[in-house]
Amino acid sequence: MYETLYADKDVAKAYHTFRPTYPESLAKEILQFIDEKLEKPFSRKLAIDVGCGSGQSTKLMANHFDRIIGLDISEAQIFEAKRNNEHDNVEFTVGSFEKLPAEDNSVSLIFAGTAFHFFEPFENFYKEVKRVLVPGGCLAVFSYALPFVAEFDDHVNSKLNDFRLTFFNELDDFKTPATHHVANHYKDFELPFNNFTRINSMKTNKSMNLDDYAGYLGSWSFYRNYVANRKTDPLKLFRSRFEETLQEENIPTNVTFTVEWPVFLLCGRN
Ligand SMILES: C[S@@+](CC[C@H](N)C(=O)[O-])C[C@H]1O[C@@H](n2cnc3c(N)ncnc32)[C@H](O)[C@@H]1O
Repeated sequence: MYETLYADKDVAKAYHTFRPTYPESLAKEILQFIDEKLEKPFSRKLAIDVGCGSGQSTKLMANHFDRIIGLDISEAQIFEAKRNNEHDNVEFTVGSFEKLPAEDNSVSLIFAGTAFHFFEPFENFYKEVKRVLVPGGCLAVFSYALPFVAEFDDHVNSKLNDFRLTFFNELDDFKTPATHHVANHYKDFELPFNNFTRINSMKTNKSMNLDDYAGYLGSWSFYRNYVANRKTDPLKLFRSRFEETLQEENIPTNVTFTVEWPVFLLCGRN
């Protein structure tokens, strides 16, 4: 259902440029969860990042495992991931969540950053996860949610964030179940393990100017589908309202500001 969303080369580039990175606190939570049942160094031999995109999520765990395989259905994303790879222990390969590139009982951690919501039917993913995980091995799925400007006083932030909300709402007809899962912080999901936990208290941020922020919003797949079908661009209105507000508040329109994303994590143990 979602296989072609990230096939475009420009999307993969925009993705690499504008998307936020994940906070170290996220890696810490995942490693702590693994350590409750598995011993090092056994627990740090092999991890797979499913739906790795251009490698943002893979990077987060790169220093913690002997070997990590980043897997993605999109050739364009894997091309971008390989081009930017700085880690000898990380390899990237094209493939689907329905066939994980590992032997039975061989992987300590399967993780997915801002990708799990695409893995329908979810039962097929869980089946593969259970096949390759070692006993006590972990599945960690996480994502960032919708962003907020967190830079100016409350009055300005709230105006700028309302424009983002209006933009998001305008795209309603092109949203998918995946969009709703992310906006809803994965609250509808329970991982199919007896030992299962949910952590909602983390966040990440990135310093951006308006071009960057619009570039980020423009990397949403449902936005691109809106533009392709409606032949009109709602980002233009977002940008002009954003700029007008900055001008009204005597803030230079090329200002750099902090954008913040809530980050949520679900972990299950085999
Ligand atoms: C929003 S991106 C997330 C990329 C990266 N993990 C990150 O944290 O930024 C979602 C990724 O899931 C991938 N994806 C979608 N369907 C997939 C499937 N069937 N198997 C593997 N990857 C898939 C897409 O190609 C895309 O690169």
